Amino acid sequence: MVEATHRKEWKGFEPNQGEVLAFSPTCPRVRLKSGSAASQNGMRTIDQIETPALLVDLPRLQANILRVQRLAQQSGKYLRPHAKTHKSPALARLQVSCGASGLTVAKVGEAEIFVSEGFTDVFVANEIVSKEKLERLVRLQDRAHISIGVDSIPTAEALVACAGARGARFRVLLECDTGLGRAGVRSVAEALQVGQLIAECPGLRFAGIFTHEGHLYRFSDPEERRQRARQAVEQLQAVREALERIGLECHTVSVGSTPGVDAMASEPSVTEMRPGNYVFFDRMQVRLGARVEDCALSVLATVTGVYRDGRVVIDAGAKALAGDCPFDDRTWGEVVGHPDWTFVAASEEHGMIQLCPGSAAPRVGDKVQILPNHACTCVNMHDELFVCQEGVLVDIWRIAARGKSR
Ligand SMILES: Cc1ncc(COP(=O)(O)O)c(C=O)c1O
Repeated sequence: MVEATHRKEWKGFEPNQGEVLAFSPTCPRVRLKSGSAASQNGMRTIDQIETPALLVDLPRLQANILRVQRLAQQSGKYLRPHAKTHKSPALARLQVSCGASGLTVAKVGEAEIFVSEGFTDVFVANEIVSKEKLERLVRLQDRAHISIGVDSIPTAEALVACAGARGARFRVLLECDTGLGRAGVRSVAEALQVGQLIAECPGLRFAGIFTHEGHLYRFSDPEERRQRARQAVEQLQAVREALERIGLECHTVSVGSTPGVDAMASEPSVTEMRPGNYVFFDRMQVRLGARVEDCALSVLATVTGVYRDGRVVIDAGAKALAGDCPFDDRTWGEVVGHPDWTFVAASEEHGMIQLCPGSAAPRVGDKVQILPNHACTCVNMHDELFVCQEGVLVDIWRIAARGKSR
């Protein structure tokens, strides 16, 4: 069983919140085990890995995990990382052994994978309405504490119907839209209406409120992001106070986004943070101020063609990078160490890079590393994470929840 070492015994449905956690996060060492997939294949250096392959820089990954874990600890918040970013039980184990209090997932299939790997506290931060999926979640409750999001009367009713039929009990968090414009109640009145229903249903246990402040991605100025994060917290606070006035105590006030981590850590009313992307970072985060040197994920590719017009073709295209292209210039990723090369286009299996006039061309067979635009969608294209340290392959981690979108 994988459980946070600092976590107190689960008492009913109310984890103790708000205390400064008395443990010191450290990262366990990851070593290449003899007989592991990495050593059996005789692969030792990055150059020997078959491409396209997803590389993880272990020291950077560990530093990213520890930075946010320490921040959470120092601010007295629980950290419940979103595992949709990496979808890897081995990586989640690292997060929990560094102090994460549980995991967040988006899908029932992801919850099933992580519970089957021994994780005992999983929050499905999403609205699940199908009977079949809810029954799958009920089946997980024998082995893990499962929490779930609700944001409307029909989503609450779907849970009630399932809980009633199965005699099960769901720990429920009310989702609030604090600016993203996606899921979540949008007013205190709505929150009260849904909250009241949750309170009245014996199969549901109201635990608090949550938001995904994903709209912070729209603001590149850190001060503006901080202000928007503050506004999001004020909205949550208004909902919390109204709910508590009608007797619904919010033990958990959960926020979650990588661009919001620093601002949210200093908000006293927040009890839990659920960032996902912070473990890897990517080009989207770099655009918001993250350092390229902290980016822990890249796609390793091989040059398969070099042409007279300055075009270079690599063996990583849309199926290795994911078609998430949030940039105005429509580039597919950044070629690490080559700022004068532009990743201009991709088809399924090919990436097309344009060199600047005068830049030194690679040779066919050379390896290049691509920093993806969006780490979370890129990971979902791969089966394995090749874990490297100083150019040497130290482990291979299965992306076990890859493609678990149901
Ligand atoms: C509900 C929820 N919580 C947390 C996160 C984590 O956000 P980020 O990927 O910015 O770390 C996400 C991301 O999509 C999300 O949807």
